[in-house]
Amino acid sequence: MTATSDSPQARHAVRTLRSSQIREVANAGFGVPDVLPFWFGESDRVTPPFIREAAAEALGRGDTFYTHNLGIAPLREVLARYVSGLHGATSVENIAVTSAGVNALMLAAQLVTGAGDRAVAVTPLWPNLVEIPKILGATVETVSLSYGERGWTLDLERLLSALTPGTKLLMINSPNNPTGWVMTRDEQRAVLDHCRRHGIWIVADEVYERLYYGEAVERAAPSFLDLASRDERVICVNSFSKAWLMTGWRLGWMVAPPTLMDDLGKLVEYNTSCAPSFVQQAGIAAVEHGEPFTRALVADLRASRDHLAAALAQLPGVDVKAPPGAMYLFFRLPGAQESLSLCKALVRDAGLGLAPGSAFGREGEGFVRWCYACDPARLDRGVERLAGYLKARGVR
Ligand SMILES: Cc1ncc(COP(=O)(O)O)c(C=O)c1O
Repeated sequence: MTATSDSPQARHAVRTLRSSQIREVANAGFGVPDVLPFWFGESDRVTPPFIREAAAEALGRGDTFYTHNLGIAPLREVLARYVSGLHGATSVENIAVTSAGVNALMLAAQLVTGAGDRAVAVTPLWPNLVEIPKILGATVETVSLSYGERGWTLDLERLLSALTPGTKLLMINSPNNPTGWVMTRDEQRAVLDHCRRHGIWIVADEVYERLYYGEAVERAAPSFLDLASRDERVICVNSFSKAWLMTGWRLGWMVAPPTLMDDLGKLVEYNTSCAPSFVQQAGIAAVEHGEPFTRALVADLRASRDHLAAALAQLPGVDVKAPPGAMYLFFRLPGAQESLSLCKALVRDAGLGLAPGSAFGREGEGFVRWCYACDPARLDRGVERLAGYLKARGVR
C-alpha cells in the first residue's frame, strides 16, 4: 500500500528491512495449477509419529500452562546430555529452550548487540542473520564466500580482516543455507582465536549441524562448541526443525554462557514468555528417541542430494556441485543473472518453484536454490520441468 508522508509508519530500521523474495516468487505462482515447490527450507514429510504422539499425550494430560522462561527442566536436561554427547561437556545452565531457531537468533542478538554496534555476517546467507542485527539498530558488513572449482569456500583472511577491533558480533551459519558450505574446524579455530583476542561475540547458527555429509563417522558438522569453553563469548543456536522435521512446532534452543541466563530469561519473558509446554514435551521425545530417525533422515537426504546433483549436471548450462551440508543445491543456471525474474518465470511457465539466489544477498545473484528434502521421484519431475524450460528457450 502507498503511504503518504503523514501516514502512520514503522520506524526507519524496520521499513528498510528486506522483504522475502521467496515469498515474491511464491506469490507469482498463485493460480498456477500443480506447482512443484522446492523453494522453502523444509521437508515434504510430516514429523515422525513418536513425536506427534508425545505432544498429543501431553495435551491429553492438560499440559497447557506457561513454563519456566528458559524451558522445562527435563527438556533442558536431555538437551544438555545431547549436546554433551555431540560436542563435549555442557551443563543445564548452558541451555535455554526457545521458540525455534528464528527466535533463538533474535534473542542471541538482543543479548549482545544494540544501536550503533557493528556486526559481520558471512554470505550468501538466509536473510534473518543479516536483518536481525539491523532491527536492533546495528550495522552489518557482509563477507562473501567465494565460488570456484571446489564449490563455496571461505576466504579466511578476508573474514578476519573484517572482524576489526570494536566489532561487536559475528553472525555465522554452518552448514550454510543456501550454499551447503560447511566451515572447517581449522577455520573455526582461527575465527575463535581472533574473536577471543578482540572480545567479539560469535553467534553460530548450527541448525543444520546434523544434516552433514562429511566424514561418515561424524554425527554432526564441526561446531564452535567443539572448540570453545562454555563460558566464553559464543552462543550456538539450534532447532528441532531440521533434524526431527518439526518446522511447524517452533521449538529450538541455544547454548550460551551461564552468566547470560538471567538476562536471557528476562528477554524470553518480554518476547514469548516460554515455548509452548506440550511442544517442549514433544521435544523431549525427539531428543530421547529420535537418533535412529535422524540418522535415517540424513542417509535419505544424502541420497537425494546425490540424485538431484547428478540429474542437474546433465542439463545444458547448469553448474552444480554437491555440498557437504544442509539440504539445498545452490547452482548456476542460464538466466539466473537476474534470479528473481528467472524464478518467477520458472514458476509461471514451468510450474517449478525455486528460490532466487538474490534472496540470500547480492552475492547469491547468478544462482538458484533447490531444496532436495523430498522423494527422488518428485525431484525427477522437477528436473524434467527445468529441462523442458531450458529447451524451449534454446539453451543447449
Ligand atoms: C540458517 C537457518 N537458521 C535458522 C533457521 C530457523 O529455523 P527454525 O526457526 O524453524 O528453527 C533456518 C530455517 O530455515 C535456517 O535456514
